[in-house]
Amino acid sequence: MSAVILDGKSLGLRVEAKLGDRVSQLKKSGIEPHLAVVLAGDDPASHVYVRNKQRACERCGIKSTRVDLPNNVSQQELIQVVERLNADDSVHGILVQSPTPDGTDELEITETIDPSKDVDGFHPTNLGRLVMGQVDGMLPCTPAGVMELIKDAGIDLIGKKAVVIGRSRIVGMPLSLLLAQKGIDATVTIAHSRTHDIAEICRAADLVVAAIGRAETIQADWIKPGATVIDVGINRVADDSRESGSRLTGDVEPEAAKKAGYITPVPGGVGPMTISMLMSNTVKAAELRLN
Ligand code: GUN
Repeated sequence: MSAVILDGKSLGLRVEAKLGDRVSQLKKSGIEPHLAVVLAGDDPASHVYVRNKQRACERCGIKSTRVDLPNNVSQQELIQVVERLNADDSVHGILVQSPTPDGTDELEITETIDPSKDVDGFHPTNLGRLVMGQVDGMLPCTPAGVMELIKDAGIDLIGKKAVVIGRSRIVGMPLSLLLAQKGIDATVTIAHSRTHDIAEICRAADLVVAAIGRAETIQADWIKPGATVIDVGINRVADDSRESGSRLTGDVEPEAAKKAGYITPVPGGVGPMTISMLMSNTVKAAELRLN
């Protein structure tokens, strides 16, 4: 048996195509959706992510502005940039690319972003709304993208066992809440680096979400036959057989595709969905101006 591939690239493009109508409506009302991306420092991966986000804006008809800051930017300067974007009525969404340079405080920066412009969904107000079961606001993009992949494939999780491996505030924690919410109704285990018997927990699970950021850590023989496997990891590993000398791989061993019922590829699974959910949040933020 070989798993059905959950193709995030194609679903992401479908999501973006649907946003096109809403963008047109906004423009007819005189509102051009506008995302401001703050990129501090010279982390190569962050530059790639930001470029991909700006390309998605172009596909959707969303204006994007990039604010580039040097690696030695101070906390105060970063806060001032965010405050200026908060005050700018032409900007609907603000994203500060993570990680910010050493010596800066990402949490304080996140808390400075106006929650109505927080298209990453990381502000305590937006995460707090999620804890309270209010899922109509700005949801963190990767967890929201995972939920779209599950919904689009028609995977029923009512009463099922889900394990989320990783407890980050960006992925693991919010995704666990979304999986346990009323209407989705999974029974969720949050596993992490101190968890005992992780292989056994996975073997019992109908859904395994890997979000730990360590290459191919989740082994194929941990997967229950027919289970759904969502691989959030994107890791660059050495590969001498490639001209580039490296390749991208997830947190799950590729052989897991032989046991799973559904699995996300890396790349082309969760990554593109994260970006289309960012586009969706930006359109939502712009629509708030209609009222
Ligand atoms: N760095 C890696 N993923 C993300 C993300 O989803 N948002 C932001 N702001 N930075 C990131």
